[in-house]
Amino acid sequence: MKNIDANELRKSYLKFFESKNHKIIPSASLIPENDPTVLFTTAGMHPLVPYLLGEHHPSGKRLTDVQKCIRTSDIESVGDSSHLTFFEMLGNWSLGDYFKEDAIKYSYEFLTSEEYLNIPKDRLYFSVFKGDEDAPKDEESYRIWRSLGVEEDHIFFLPRENNFWILGSGIGPCGPDTEMFYDTGKDACGPDCSPACDCGKYLEIWNDVFMEYYKEENGTLQKLKQKNVDTGMGLERTITVLNGLESVYDSSIFTNIKEKLEELSHLKYIDNKKSFRIIMDHLRTSTFILADDHSITPSNVGAGYVLRRLLRRAIRHLRKLNINEYVLTDLASIYINEYKEVYEELWRNREVVFTELEKEYNKFSKTLKEGERLFYKLIKNLDNNIVPGELAFKLFDTFGFPIEMTEELAQENHLEVDIEGFNKAFLEHQEKSRTIDAGAFKGGLADNSFESTKYHTLAHLLLATLQEIYGKEIVQKGCNITTERIRFDFNLDHKLSDEEKVKIETRVNEMIQTNTPVTFKEESYEDAKKEGAHGTFSSKYGTMVKVYTIGNLSKEICGGPHVENTGVLGHFKIVKEESSGAGIRRIKGILE
Ligand code: ALA
Repeated sequence: MKNIDANELRKSYLKFFESKNHKIIPSASLIPENDPTVLFTTAGMHPLVPYLLGEHHPSGKRLTDVQKCIRTSDIESVGDSSHLTFFEMLGNWSLGDYFKEDAIKYSYEFLTSEEYLNIPKDRLYFSVFKGDEDAPKDEESYRIWRSLGVEEDHIFFLPRENNFWILGSGIGPCGPDTEMFYDTGKDACGPDCSPACDCGKYLEIWNDVFMEYYKEENGTLQKLKQKNVDTGMGLERTITVLNGLESVYDSSIFTNIKEKLEELSHLKYIDNKKSFRIIMDHLRTSTFILADDHSITPSNVGAGYVLRRLLRRAIRHLRKLNINEYVLTDLASIYINEYKEVYEELWRNREVVFTELEKEYNKFSKTLKEGERLFYKLIKNLDNNIVPGELAFKLFDTFGFPIEMTEELAQENHLEVDIEGFNKAFLEHQEKSRTIDAGAFKGGLADNSFESTKYHTLAHLLLATLQEIYGKEIVQKGCNITTERIRFDFNLDHKLSDEEKVKIETRVNEMIQTNTPVTFKEESYEDAKKEGAHGTFSSKYGTMVKVYTIGNLSKEICGGPHVENTGVLGHFKIVKEESSGAGIRRIKGILE
């Protein structure tokens, strides 16, 4: 197998598909042009959606590219060995041209042929779709892999959650996929070890999606008028796996910046991995956002807010490494030089990058100094290990100190932040002064996308279910939502048994399936309470609040936003249940 770096992998991928009559197209912008549901381009197929639906592409029916992508829903996980907020996705597309047979043959040839990746065949494993009520078992892909000489025990049939692909919004072109895995040679974790588990034996390197369906907003699946192929190979991940590295941050992409950080801090990466990784990741992402031709600048809303958060977090971790002077231009220059041949906009727009970095650094330095000083002053007087929501809100409101920073500082000091209290304080403030842009720091929402809105509505159904099962004394103790999951805390005196989990899931899913409209009205807090709306909302007499009602299932005081009908939520599943303090349980759940 070849030792391969990012430049080589990009070149060889594009060359291979060019030799199979694909046209190389440039990466589209990181900021989606016609999609209000997301802040950034999240996959190679994203900018190609109109063509997957049948529109004619000027470069024809066979395309290949390397697409700049950003996924920030897992931003808290950056710092571990595998998470990146920016990544490049290699892809090839058939827009109503070839389908399973050729897609699989091309993938296998690229992975195994001597001229290309030259991966030993016995190290490769594959998964194919097991089938369900919506789409049949993918016998065809299985047969094609077998016809190429792949052994039976190297192919796994897996369910929808593993082998059916759709954009994060849950709407749009979609279909079953077949995924390719590299066997690291580690021992199997047990008799059921398969590419579906995350024990680290099998690492995914490529995904071929067979897009022949379209998922409507109301959940129905239609056949598309053409059969498409959409593939995605994460560049950073693939070179990490193929070179046998432990972490994406060990790849040569990060060598220069790592050395620079070691030089500036006089500290070693090996002893400070988390901060190094956060800085390396966030600064790379920020540089690409600022240099994009549809550039946005740091702000308090939407994508600008994500950018602000990335930069401010990077700056805080620079300070943790004792780098207090302004170094962002030096660090961004390293990435600009590294990538300028592939993404020439980085070089062309470098002055914008430097100016914006410096502006944001200066703004944040002021905020940080004040906010941190105040945080430490205020926590001296705490009665317990909870930072009250009012206090977190004061830091935010008076000093512009982001709530995530308060949460991070709290964590470092073994404290918890009362996020619900923060949200309440925020909502109250919002009611008082409607000049504030509600989109800036939404009540517990990671962003305003459809996906996170669904989880917000789910939170109401979950509370209603828990109250049905355990009684009206159950209250929501905290709620944290990303585009991919909900984390919901509530009071209960025991660990949930498997039966209890199933009971909760079943009841929530029943509620979803009632297709009940979600409505709201504005009324005074007192009237809302009289009507039995849930939500502990301390306020002055007469304050107007929003009350969201889901048929006769739920009535809650809440800032929203919510979906219009429970039916769009899909299927709820509990992925984890754990303690989150004395007498508090935490459910982590997903919508599929
Ligand atoms: N669209 C598919 C993915 O992102 C290929 O994995």
